[in-house]
Amino acid sequence: MKKTRIAVVGFGGMGKHHATKIMDGNEMIECAGTYDIDPARMDLARELGIYTYPSFEALLADPTVDVCTVATPNDIHLDLCVRCMRAGKHVVCEKPVALSSEELQEMIAVSKECGVLFTVHQNRRWDEDFNIMKKIFDDNVLGRVFCIESRVHGSRGIPGDWRNQKARGGGMVLDWGIHLFDQMFMMMGDRKVKSIYCTLSYVTNEECDDGFKVIVQFEDDIQFHVEVGTSNFINMPRWYMLGENGSAIMEDWHNGKIVKVSDWEKRDAVPVQTSAGLTKTMAPRTKETITEYPLPEVNVTLKDYYRNVAKTINGEATQLITHEQMLRDMRFMEACFYSAEHNCVVTDFE
Ligand SMILES: NC(=O)c1ccc[n+]([C@@H]2O[C@H](COP(=O)([O-])OP(=O)(O)OC[C@H]3O[C@@H](n4cnc5c(N)ncnc54)[C@H](O)[C@@H]3O)[C@@H](O)[C@H]2O)c1
Repeated sequence: MKKTRIAVVGFGGMGKHHATKIMDGNEMIECAGTYDIDPARMDLARELGIYTYPSFEALLADPTVDVCTVATPNDIHLDLCVRCMRAGKHVVCEKPVALSSEELQEMIAVSKECGVLFTVHQNRRWDEDFNIMKKIFDDNVLGRVFCIESRVHGSRGIPGDWRNQKARGGGMVLDWGIHLFDQMFMMMGDRKVKSIYCTLSYVTNEECDDGFKVIVQFEDDIQFHVEVGTSNFINMPRWYMLGENGSAIMEDWHNGKIVKVSDWEKRDAVPVQTSAGLTKTMAPRTKETITEYPLPEVNVTLKDYYRNVAKTINGEATQLITHEQMLRDMRFMEACFYSAEHNCVVTDFE
């Protein structure tokens, strides 16, 4: 079968990653070349053996290019994606796909008008940590789950490029929030959002949010906390999930455990003496009443992302990251900004 040929627009950190790592070794696709406005990035691409187009127009004019992957700063996704689609190319856009749901609706309308695929690179749907926690949730390992916490923490503030400029689509809600919110919705399935409360932080940056905390109440009495911090010199766990019969934790991207109650009836609590008091309620459990389990194994590969793109173009599959999901994620981020700005709980998301 003919390989789907993909040209990368923007050869920065992520464009290079697409052209060298993500596309590498995928039997269904090949990298046609790249274009970047920065000559130094073009030099680097050539050094790596990647064909470089002399201009964006030259890339669009290449009839052998099936797909354009747009990996530029966020504020020009709209313009570049629309120009690619109007040139008859299918488009994979980096996240966040746009700066607002209005922009995204315009992009979707153009893709329908031009009859081309238009999707976003929500690569973290294929992250191992997310799939492990989703499996624990889907398999009902902990009994009825009532709380899920998803966090990423760093300690270097926002990178000092376009990411700390509001007009360029900077800030952590758009940068990391989009990944974590998309994962949250994939885990929650059809459950509707009942309320959203969000706060933003501006510890290292006055213009853009450098962190946030969101509490989302879902149907079935599930509370989802999502948090990003960039001034955290001690990291909280990546994931924490509470069910009626046990808890699961992932301390980082790979490691964690499940602890389940094995004997509810056994009265084992030995009071804990604190410096100014005594507590039985908060006393740790003894080993006889709980059992520890390893995390389940999952088998996921990001190669399936571009495989799906190629198959969708060939009419053999439907796109995994749909327009409805893209709009839902974008509208959710807008609801977070609204909640933070007005210090209010948003109750009319759906
Ligand atoms: N999915 C992920 O895991 C992930 C990770 C990092 C970045 N991203 C996304 O990828 C995109 C790029 O981020 P990055 O970290 O590579 O940024 P970057 O600043 O490293 O690279 C952006 C590149 O785009 C080039 N560029 C700017 N305007 C251009 C234009 N008009 N035509 C062609 N090239 C142009 C710049 O010269 C630069 O080389 C952003 O949307 C970002 O959010 C996604």
